[in-house]
Order: sequence, then C-alpha cells, then structure tokens
Amino acid sequence: MTQFFTEAGSVEAVNTRMGKDINPRLKEVMASLIKHLHAFAKDIHLTQEEWDIAIDFLTRTGQMCSEERQEFILLSDTLGFSMLVDTINNRRPVGATENTVFGPFHVAGAPERQMGENISLDGKGESCLFEGRVIDLHGEPIQGARIDVWSDNADGFYDVQQPGIQPKWNNRGIFTTGADGKYSFVGIKPVSYPIPDDGPVGKMLAHLGRHPHRPAHMHFMVTAPGFQKLVTHTFVGGDPYITSDTVFGVKETLVAPFEHVNDGKTVWHSPFDFVLTPVPSVSR
Ligand code: BEZ
Ligand code: FE
Repeated sequence: MTQFFTEAGSVEAVNTRMGKDINPRLKEVMASLIKHLHAFAKDIHLTQEEWDIAIDFLTRTGQMCSEERQEFILLSDTLGFSMLVDTINNRRPVGATENTVFGPFHVAGAPERQMGENISLDGKGESCLFEGRVIDLHGEPIQGARIDVWSDNADGFYDVQQPGIQPKWNNRGIFTTGADGKYSFVGIKPVSYPIPDDGPVGKMLAHLGRHPHRPAHMHFMVTAPGFQKLVTHTFVGGDPYITSDTVFGVKETLVAPFEHVNDGKTVWHSPFDFVLTPVPSVSR
C-alpha cells in the first residue's frame, strides 16, 4: 500500500518501503534508527539551517579521515557512544575486570618482552613498576595469558604520533604469564593528554564548553585461551581529569593505586590484578 509522506506518518512512510526479503537484522536496525531519528527531529523542531550545519559538520568529519586519522571514531568516543557499545557488549560478572574503550593508538605486533623489562625507551618521565596477577573469578592464576600494554610518553604522545621523534615501540610490549599468573614491567607513570582536537570534533567540544583531555592511563589488552578478551586501562586516581574523561572511559573499578615508593629502582609502584571471565560454554 502506498504511504504518502506526512509529518505524523513519517516513520511508517520510510519503514514500509523496505523489501520483504531483506536481512532481518538490517530491517530491525534500520526501522529503529528511522524511528529514533525522526523522533529526534520532531522533539527539537530541527530547523533547516541547523540541519545544513549538521550536514556540513559530518562532511568535514569525513574529509578529516585518513589512514592515520579516524575523526568519526573520535566523534563516537566524545559522544559517549563508543563506551556505550563497549559496555553493552562486555557485561561481566561482579568481580571480573571491566572493559573500557580501545582507542586508536594500539599497534599490533609489539615486541614480546621478559617479565620485569622496561618498556620506556626514551628515558623520559617518572618510572613506575606495574605488577600483579592475571586470575580467574575464583582467584586461580591463569597461565599463558598475553598482556599487551601501551601508554603515552611523559610529553603526552604515543610513539605513533611522533615517528622519528620517539623510538619505535616506545612504551609498548607484550608479556606472557607463567604458572603463577604473575606479571611485572617497568614503564612510566602515564600523564593526561588531549585527544587530537584540531578537527571538527575538537571544534564541537569547544562549542560545548568541553575540554579534550583524557586522564592519565595505561592501556592493557589481556587474552588467554578459554577466557573473554579484556581491553581495558588502569587510571591514575589523582588526575585532574579523572571525573571528566573526554571519551567517558573511566570506570571506578579501573582506578588503580599509584604509590610513590622511590625505592632506588622506580619512583612509582602500581599493583593491579586482572580478573578474566570465562567464555560461555556452548551447550548442546
Ligand atoms: C586512547 O586512550 O588512546 C584514546 C581513546 C579514545 C580516543 C582517543 C584516544
Ligand atoms: Fe590512551
């Protein structure tokens, strides 16, 4: 049946156009998207001028994207959408370590390192011993867990943001646990940094009266056979941006101790255990 366009019937006008034999999930997703998008325009009585500005913003966001820069992910991150999708897809039992946003600065293939090794190659910053255990929900150690770590340097930049300035693989490494599940490495106490804010997303943040900073954090990706992949950070609690992370990545359980030890080996000590969740067993 033909459905002519009216304001009241706008959603039905669009959604009834979909074919009968299309992918059912695509149908569900698009029907809901149209419903919420149309409701949004009606709710705020979107003006033509505002929609033109929005189209221009989205166009500039796309034009900013390249091999090195993904402005749409920054948009998703700063709208809290990346964290929402991550959280919906990583619901875990109480006691399991929580996930947080992956971010754009992970590089696959970092050097495999020995426990206790130093990942800071540029000699900048205050040294910090990161150590703890990878355990299951019962507190049993997990052997063979791979811990991929990365952080910014003391100037607030990842190595990939400063090729030719920072040594390759600065503040990165992969560690594998033994039978005791323990890990340890020396890095630096990370520092807070702004996400790239010289594009449309940075301008949007400024218009919204928001800063572009992330609180200081160390990234971890922990994988082990039989367990869900954990993508997370540990955060420095006293950081000025701890309650206003521009990408909403902070979860209370991920704020880690950073103890000032100055014991002649390192300046800081950050103990943290990672508790992995088993992959659901397939019932027959
Ligand atoms: C990061 O933590 O590396 C990051 C996350 C989201 C956007 C930009 C950077
Ligand atoms: Fe980061």
